[in-house]
Amino acid sequence: SPKPIIAPSILASDFGKLASECQRIIGDGADWLHIDIMDGHFVPNITIGAPVVTCIRPAIEKTADGKGTFDCHMMVAKPEEWISDFAKAGGDLYCFHYEATTKPRECIKLVHDSGMKAGIAIKPGTPVDVLFPILDDSSGDKDYYPDMVLVMTVEPGFGGQKFQEGCMPKVAELRAKYPELDIEVDGGLGPSTIGVAAEAGANVIVAGTAVFGAKDPKEVIAMLRGTVEK
Ligand code: DX5
Ligand code: ZN
Repeated sequence: SPKPIIAPSILASDFGKLASECQRIIGDGADWLHIDIMDGHFVPNITIGAPVVTCIRPAIEKTADGKGTFDCHMMVAKPEEWISDFAKAGGDLYCFHYEATTKPRECIKLVHDSGMKAGIAIKPGTPVDVLFPILDDSSGDKDYYPDMVLVMTVEPGFGGQKFQEGCMPKVAELRAKYPELDIEVDGGLGPSTIGVAAEAGANVIVAGTAVFGAKDPKEVIAMLRGTVEK
């Protein structure tokens, strides 16, 4: 399966010094930065928008191997509306929620047209089957094909929640059907939960509290990576 990617969620960082927090965590071995965008409509919380992404972009270089990728997790009611803003701000991957749109394939195409990669996310209560028609599209048109799937392991809206192991069969089913797909898990991931997530087949690991709250984030990042690699 695809290579391990560790994507700390900056939601758990100190927003007062966001750019240096981003640099620090990349220095500690993170691959991507997971940026949680919440609009107070799709989820009952508000975080940051494109202007803040614009301000942290110059602090983080994106390298050819994908290090420094801005993984924008769009917990917003109208994902189509913010695509160009995030492309301009320096977003690399625009991951929107299946539940937030009636036209997921068109949304993927719009994201690709903007120059970003596209991800599609499902909440814990959303069955994985809804993604099959999108992933099984046999037209061969890459414009409509997602670059990543995000299986949420908590109800989106807040950091620091308990990992829902009940979401793992969805990951396992996706991994069995799509061996090369980047599968991201998000919510409650850390040293005590990474084992089951890796076992199920997730390779893109988001961790907020477990990384930013750690005494030694470097050690946690290495541990998460080592567990996925096995
Ligand atoms: C939840 C967010 C997550 C969250 C993860 O709505 O999508 O990315 O920040 O935080 P932890 O790792 O603390 O659960
Ligand atoms: Zn997230």
